[in-house]
Amino acid sequence: MSVEHSTASPTTEELRGRIAQVLGRSRERTAGLTDCMDEADLVAQHSRLMSPLVWDLAHIGNQEELWLVRDVGGREPVRHDIDDLYDAFKHPRPDRPALPLLDPAEARGYVGAVRDKVLDVLDRSALAGRPLERDGFAFGMIAQHEQQHDETMLATHQLRSGRAVLDAPPPPAAPPGGPVADEVIVPGGDFVMGTSTEPWALDNERPAHRVSVPAFAIGAAPITNEQYLAFLADDGYHRPELWTERGWQHRVEADLTAPQFWERDTDGNWWRRVFGAMRPVAPRQPVVHVCWFEADAFARWAGRRLPTEAEWEKAARFDPSTGRSRRYPWGDGDPTPERANLGQRHLEPAEVGAYPAGVTPMGVHQLIGDVWEWTASGFEPYPGFTAFPYREYSEVFFGGDYRVLRGGSFGTDSVACRGTFRNWDHPIRRQIFAGFRLARDLTPAENSAGVGAR
Ligand code: AVJ
Ligand code: FE
Repeated sequence: MSVEHSTASPTTEELRGRIAQVLGRSRERTAGLTDCMDEADLVAQHSRLMSPLVWDLAHIGNQEELWLVRDVGGREPVRHDIDDLYDAFKHPRPDRPALPLLDPAEARGYVGAVRDKVLDVLDRSALAGRPLERDGFAFGMIAQHEQQHDETMLATHQLRSGRAVLDAPPPPAAPPGGPVADEVIVPGGDFVMGTSTEPWALDNERPAHRVSVPAFAIGAAPITNEQYLAFLADDGYHRPELWTERGWQHRVEADLTAPQFWERDTDGNWWRRVFGAMRPVAPRQPVVHVCWFEADAFARWAGRRLPTEAEWEKAARFDPSTGRSRRYPWGDGDPTPERANLGQRHLEPAEVGAYPAGVTPMGVHQLIGDVWEWTASGFEPYPGFTAFPYREYSEVFFGGDYRVLRGGSFGTDSVACRGTFRNWDHPIRRQIFAGFRLARDLTPAENSAGVGAR
């Protein structure tokens, strides 16, 4: 589609360097999440929702072997006997601890042996030709896969009880100069959603297509803990009329009374457990660890609603001065530490307003990084979708009981996060690093005053 961005192609050598760098960064993160744990902690299941970390570790290596050693490289298997153990569809998470898994030393040896072969395959690949190899797609896909599991492993760390083992500097504070505006009006009209040009975009982000979105207002920032506390104080968890029927049923059954990992002390102050350390709930940070049903109830309480996925992407990518959809809220340049809180550099979301360099031309903050944002939308294919390179990444989840999340969190690496990137999960899930922002339709008065016109 003509109004989508075009990305200058690097030379093959530059691309090779970039792939080696992103693979190396991913492995450093994987090591950082596993080397700090003793053997017993690595093989334990810290929550029935999660795999033992040693399963994630060998699964990362197995996917890398399947796609890069065997398929792209055409080499002999490193291990021909373990594919079944690390097939996520054959063994649901609760069953994984009982499998005859590689032990931590074997798993480390395995992923290292696979990586050695992959670096050799990378040296010899033309990074061109068939779609799997063109622009280094399979390498980018595997780097994203490792980083996705690194975020999953980070969520396992958060669920784990016991003393803190992870450490990182705090995120930047918001600069002085007053609070971020409440909301921003996004003009009506069509825009290009999804991408056909981003080389490492995954199948569910494709193809680029025009979507018509009426004018709407969207929160200039994610909902903060302070705002969420007002919902608690107004009895939001005890008013069924604020919840959908299914949401209320879940609220009662799961006994939800506050975001996950929150605790109130005898003086009435709220604390939150963050990777094993107790911290006061920071008023200006986005709320995190709420499920879709909580986000939806908050929105109803606030007289607002969650944005649709198309609204979120239009707010994040549409540039009203050119009519073009860009790669990121700030433009077409890659994420940097100044633009977004990504990559596990910090282990919590930053205060609202802390990333002025990441703001959209319309004034929307922190769409990328900090917290995944629940949207109102289910996970569905775009028109013209084709599964690539395997149906089990996206296709088998379409139409299921999932809601789309956008934007990535502090736990998401930049290689696995874009203006077009789509995540999804069940509406009851809270262990992911998810918060939300609000949206609303324009009022008839605003519409007739033309505030949302282009
Ligand atoms: C895209 C984050 C929903 O973790 O279930 C990892 C990514 N797919 N291995 C997940 C994924 C296969 C997936 N999400
Ligand atoms: Fe996986």
